Amino acid sequence: RNLLRDQLLKAHELTAMLYHFLLKNSDHGQPAMEYLRQRGFTDKLIDQFQIGYAPNRWDTLTQFLTKRGFDLSEMEQGGLLSMRSDESGYVDRFRDRIMFPIWDRNGKVIAFGGRMLHDGQPKYLNSPESMLFNKSRVLYNLHHAKPSIRKAHQIVLFEGYVDVIQAWDAGVTNGIATMGTALTSDHLNHLKNQAEEVVVCYDGDDAGQAAAMKAIPMLEKAGFQARVAVLPDRLDPDEYIKEHGKERFRHQIIEGAVTPTKFKLIYLKKSHILLEDSGKQRYVSEATKLIAEIQSPTEREVYLKELAQQFPIFDYETLKQECNEFRITL
Ligand code: UTP
Ligand code: MN
Ligand code: MN
Ligand code: MN
Ligand code: MN
Repeated sequence: RNLLRDQLLKAHELTAMLYHFLLKNSDHGQPAMEYLRQRGFTDKLIDQFQIGYAPNRWDTLTQFLTKRGFDLSEMEQGGLLSMRSDESGYVDRFRDRIMFPIWDRNGKVIAFGGRMLHDGQPKYLNSPESMLFNKSRVLYNLHHAKPSIRKAHQIVLFEGYVDVIQAWDAGVTNGIATMGTALTSDHLNHLKNQAEEVVVCYDGDDAGQAAAMKAIPMLEKAGFQARVAVLPDRLDPDEYIKEHGKERFRHQIIEGAVTPTKFKLIYLKKSHILLEDSGKQRYVSEATKLIAEIQSPTEREVYLKELAQQFPIFDYETLKQECNEFRITL
């Protein structure tokens, strides 16, 4: 048995309980509660996700852990406390933040993400890498989502905490998140045999769309069927739900998620100036190249016909010929 590991797990469990208690029951927690309410967190969600609040003090957790006999230097190694700058002792790492516990696959708390209530940097302070927490392996909410994932044979992949929680509230209970880091093959190894399909539902901003482009080949390489949920107006999933409602999120965004080819075409289109013939030609040529990579002839035909329809200055037969020429070079 690893004693340090056991101590850290115990401390994380108690810390999550403390922060959750302080959010719900202390005066310090009231502004945080107010903030959460404004963002659409119900009591039920706050309980289900064990959301908490770390007070704006240096020693709330430090004293709590001291009283329970934990070794403070171990707690610092585990990322719950920080060393004072003059190295004279330890202080709370998380202060004045909304606390999202992060669980391992078995539902044990192994880290936290702490959000500021106001604008400022960093918006989220996460636990550092530790013997419990490896960011390139852990997926937020996997233990909650597992039964749903198994049932639906599908995973929905989000960027962050709030997206997962608000999507859950909208009935998408098979959602997990990479917590801002890029998707790694380590993440995907955990997910093999759990589902056939992964729907990437990243933010609608440029960063999110670029990350989705990167996720597609990784998912395909790992043997998943990939689809991409396309969010309008640079919204993220949480913002979309607020603006358009739960129903539309489920039906239009998640069920309406598009194939990788379709997504790549949408993505490609954004980087071309389509007002000029030369821009149109460049886009159509690159789009045709993308379509050429599709194995199924009928699927290629569908996309090529759509493209010819969108750009009447090119005729379908010409696009088909160009596509076939690209295929020879594959
Ligand atoms: P976003 O910047 O999209 O934040 O980062 P968000 O999830 O929409 O957060 P809200 O809605 O403003 O509260 C996506 C994810 O990246 C990680 C977090 O996991 C976040 O949920 N992140 C982001 C960090 O770890 N640190 C940061 O400073 C910002
Ligand atoms: Mn089944
Ligand atoms: Mn984002
Ligand atoms: Mn976001
Ligand atoms: Mn957001």
